[in-house]
Amino acid sequence: MYLLIPAAGSGRRMGSNRNKLLLNLLGQSIIGWTIKAATESNRIDWIGIISQPDDWQDFENILGELNLDKPVKLIKGGSTRQESVYNGLGALPSQAEQVLIHDGARCLATPSLFDSCTETLGRTSGLIAAVPVKDTIKVVNDNNIIQSTPDRRQLWAAQTPQGFDVKLLKQCHQEAVSKGWEVTDDAALFEKCGLEVLIVPGEESNLKITTPQDLAIAEFILKNRK
Ligand code: CTP
Ligand code: MG
Repeated sequence: MYLLIPAAGSGRRMGSNRNKLLLNLLGQSIIGWTIKAATESNRIDWIGIISQPDDWQDFENILGELNLDKPVKLIKGGSTRQESVYNGLGALPSQAEQVLIHDGARCLATPSLFDSCTETLGRTSGLIAAVPVKDTIKVVNDNNIIQSTPDRRQLWAAQTPQGFDVKLLKQCHQEAVSKGWEVTDDAALFEKCGLEVLIVPGEESNLKITTPQDLAIAEFILKNRK
């Protein structure tokens, strides 16, 4: 399976002065943990890391230390995640028919989640790892007044990996460019194109490292895994 890792953000909400994925977490960079988990899945056999050229030297160093036995390609990122994934799709080897996309910031996903997503992509053209939400979610207007309370049984929190048929996802991205759609994940593009996206059970610990507090939680989770 081909895997694209969007890793070209700046980490604004982390408040650090460099790409948050280069921050240290228990002796390893965040992106290092992500790549390690992906390569430990023996279903993944090609990895493209989408990142800003300013970070390439750091990424090369991390890859050197990990000493992987799978091909890894560095791909130039864009100014939004959507643009970064678009570049990644363009850099896939021509024989790639399916692709998993996994955020560099989700460094706690386990190898078995990559396995189950790969397996499921054998029988669907669009999927997303997700977990049922635990909180009751409110829809609120600009004056902070609740408009509605969606039935929680129908609400799932989206994670990555997300997986797609490459040809269909490329078409959706092209449609998005021509129609000016801006979305935060690829499943949303698939939906907008009227295509089906299947839920794969995600992992409660598969959080996206976004704020300094997430780093502390991730450290706790990793320590308990050892
Ligand atoms: N990402 C990307 N290209 C961008 C923006 C984001 O590849 N132009 C990647 C990030 O590196 C991250 C994933 O998309 O792995 C999810 O994005 P997010 O958690 O929002 O990371 P940042 O955009 O870096 O953080 P922030 O929004 O706080 O600035
Ligand atoms: Mg962002």
